[in-house]
Amino acid sequence: MGTSSTNDKISGAEIHFAPMQGFTDMAYYSAFSKHFAGVGYYYTPFFCVDDRLERTFFAGSDLVREKLVWQILPKDIDEMKVLTHFVLRQGGSMLNINLGCPYPMVTRRGRGAALISNPEMVVSMIDYIRNYTPLTVSIKTRLGLSRDDEVFPLLEALARKSCTQVIVHARTATQLYKGNVNTERFLECRLRFPEIDFVYNGDIVDTESFLNFTNLFQGQYKWMIGRGLLCDPFLADRITDNSDCLSELKRKDILQNFVFDLIEGIVSTSNDTGHALNRVKNQFIYLANAFPEPKRITRLVRRSKSTDELKTELWKKF
Ligand SMILES: Cc1cc2nc3c(=O)[nH]c(=O)nc-3n(C[C@H](O)[C@H](O)[C@H](O)COP(=O)(O)O)c2cc1C
Repeated sequence: MGTSSTNDKISGAEIHFAPMQGFTDMAYYSAFSKHFAGVGYYYTPFFCVDDRLERTFFAGSDLVREKLVWQILPKDIDEMKVLTHFVLRQGGSMLNINLGCPYPMVTRRGRGAALISNPEMVVSMIDYIRNYTPLTVSIKTRLGLSRDDEVFPLLEALARKSCTQVIVHARTATQLYKGNVNTERFLECRLRFPEIDFVYNGDIVDTESFLNFTNLFQGQYKWMIGRGLLCDPFLADRITDNSDCLSELKRKDILQNFVFDLIEGIVSTSNDTGHALNRVKNQFIYLANAFPEPKRITRLVRRSKSTDELKTELWKKF
């Protein structure tokens, strides 16, 4: 890869769609996968033992199911077992453990980013999953709870486990989603633990920022993207194809079909019309940015009193 051009690096990229609670549900992924390419893996938002796990979750279309990674938020082995068996009951084959959730309500209970400082617990979870289930397992972590070097003892422990994939959101939990990502610390992670299969995550918002990260992290080809993809659903395709060859008309057409399929998917998986409208409105927090005039779309969505009214109004915008 040393002498390869930037274009080569782009076409080798493997894109993971980040778990985003309230956004990347199965209705979203089913509509997304029907209209957009470029994503290799879709992550569910986290499940924890407080959720209604007796329910069977709609596991999306076939396109999604084969690329679906189920994320769990356990605090200890007992919770991990409950959640692992839930994933198996749902027919999942890939599991991800959340070590990144930053909110005090979660971390105070020993979950999410609180587990970064408990490598033995994390290793025991991985051992259990590997020894007693057919699931593949990966970790999603931050650099630390409050310090950006807290992740190193965890990585040291994980490096001893072969083939562990670790997704690093290059911030501390106290940063939440603000401030700069710490690219130096991510580089240090890669340098110190070459045996770990790292996925970089944080602030890839367009092809330009993606190119900057590829230049900083030479040879890195696994990337996780959240908000960037929700704002621009074409982003993974632009990155992996390195092509902006679609005409504006074609782009509009694809976006329109996606939006209408998404609304249909949400309506058909909601409890009632109010619930559906709220879910659709929530999607537009990011999705509005995919339109030429995001503010107008946001206003229009906010004013809509039903999904039918919203569809009629949106129709006029395409
Ligand atoms: C609204 C919202 C919900 C999120 N939900 C989850 C989640 O369920 N599990 C998780 O591991 N990370 C979650 N994240 C973090 C993202 O997966 C991702 O790590 C973070 O947004 C940084 O990536 P980005 O800059 O590409 O968005 C969430 C982030 C946001 C903003």
